[in-house]
Amino acid sequence: MSRPAAWPLLLAAIPLLAAAAPTPRVAFTGSGDPEAALLPLDAEARRLRDRGLALFNTDHVAAGTEGAAAIDGLGPVYNAASCDACHNSGHRARGPIVDGPAPLPLVIQLGTASGTANASPYGAVLNAQALPGVAVEGRATLRFDHLDGRYPDGQPWRLRRPRYPIDAVARARLPAGTVIRPRIAPPVFGMALIEAARLPSPGRFGWQAAVPSLAEQTAIAYAHEMGITSRLRPQPDCGTGDRACLEAANGGVPEVADRDFDAVLALQRSLPVPAEAPLAADAEAAGRALFIDTGCSGCHVVQLPVDGIAGLDTITAWSDLRSHDLGPGLADRDLADRPQPTRFRTAPLWGLAAARAKAPLLLLHDGRAASVEEAILWHGGEASAARAAFEKQTATARALLIRWVEGR
Ligand code: HEC
Ligand code: HEC
Repeated sequence: MSRPAAWPLLLAAIPLLAAAAPTPRVAFTGSGDPEAALLPLDAEARRLRDRGLALFNTDHVAAGTEGAAAIDGLGPVYNAASCDACHNSGHRARGPIVDGPAPLPLVIQLGTASGTANASPYGAVLNAQALPGVAVEGRATLRFDHLDGRYPDGQPWRLRRPRYPIDAVARARLPAGTVIRPRIAPPVFGMALIEAARLPSPGRFGWQAAVPSLAEQTAIAYAHEMGITSRLRPQPDCGTGDRACLEAANGGVPEVADRDFDAVLALQRSLPVPAEAPLAADAEAAGRALFIDTGCSGCHVVQLPVDGIAGLDTITAWSDLRSHDLGPGLADRDLADRPQPTRFRTAPLWGLAAARAKAPLLLLHDGRAASVEEAILWHGGEASAARAAFEKQTATARALLIRWVEGR
């Protein structure tokens, strides 16, 4: 594909592109209206959603707390007491992501090079909080250094490169092959659309598109992040040999009643995708053309087909919801700091405009990128060509592409 040097040239190509890719129909409903729902809800569905909202937002408590049957069962080890503590009203996690103790919504998952889960003495997630009398599993610290480079036109750039030393672990050292998998809480709006996407394989949720369904992802969240059992996860994330955890009192079997579990699913399915903030018409068209021409839309696809939602054939999540290898720079690392090949789901770009309006951006799977420009410069591996095409643009064209992405 030819790459015009500056965007005024691209403007000339717009009519052609516009004809090839008509503006897609998107279920954007705008944010800020607490009554807004992604899809129409009848009265009964609305009641269930409202219960889900209350459960999502409420701090859960230890098993046996009087009068708290619906929200007990927390821990004994956990990362946060409510979904909302990490998921921030359905929007992406709050920061800051800076040197120091890893913040609560930045979860340290533990894996192995072969991808086996639960091989660690601490289970799939290092839990940084515990009920009184129980030891926390461990904590991670964040340490940044810098990576400097230049665009072909000589303009310098700088990236922050994170490391995640594990400070303290409670009982047993982490086995040598352990892979540290830092993951920040992503937004949870638009979940009904991600569920409905027609994809070649079932995996679609999480930063790696490893999880096939919203119910499965929700059960994992309850078990791994809150130590709460549900119909799909009858055990919390205790890890091998942690008897105190395995034998701790429970708040019912399972701890989340089925109807409450369904309510939390209904809430997530109802959360609307925030509206885009388009640029002025000419810049919007030119920015979109640049996005397509530099190859971003090879993964951040313009349209994704959906099944089973009346009146909706495609969505624009700006993602193919498939996983790609973006190279060693973004890959997870083992304890010896060796990168392990890691595939990440193309991050949906919807909601970026709303996220920027609320708080400084925390992009990529661990929130390391504080701007769209930094996020792009971390792209390698399968995205190397797109990244190079971006770097080769003029400063004006790069700035336009960045502003356009910020408007999604
Ligand atoms: C301690 C922080 C934390 C808590 C508490 C938490 N989550 Fe998450 N959530 C995360 C992280 C981190 C991820 C990314 C996990 C991954 O990619 O493996 C995630 C991912 C998700 C996703 C996938 C979104 C997507 O785009 O694929 C959903 C859905 C979700 N969480 C729902 C919930 C629900 C429901 C609760 C409460 C029952 C909850 N989470 C509690 C941190 C948290
Ligand atoms: C080969 C597929 C691929 C191509 C091509 C690609 N991306 Fe991405 N992009 C990804 C993946 C995968 C991630 C998630 C990486 C991670 O989680 O660390 C991502 C993440 C991002 C993010 C961060 C979003 C967030 O919410 O954290 C931005 C912004 C972004 N890409 C913009 C672009 C732009 C602009 C281009 C074109 C210059 C581009 N990407 C090209 C696959 C791709």
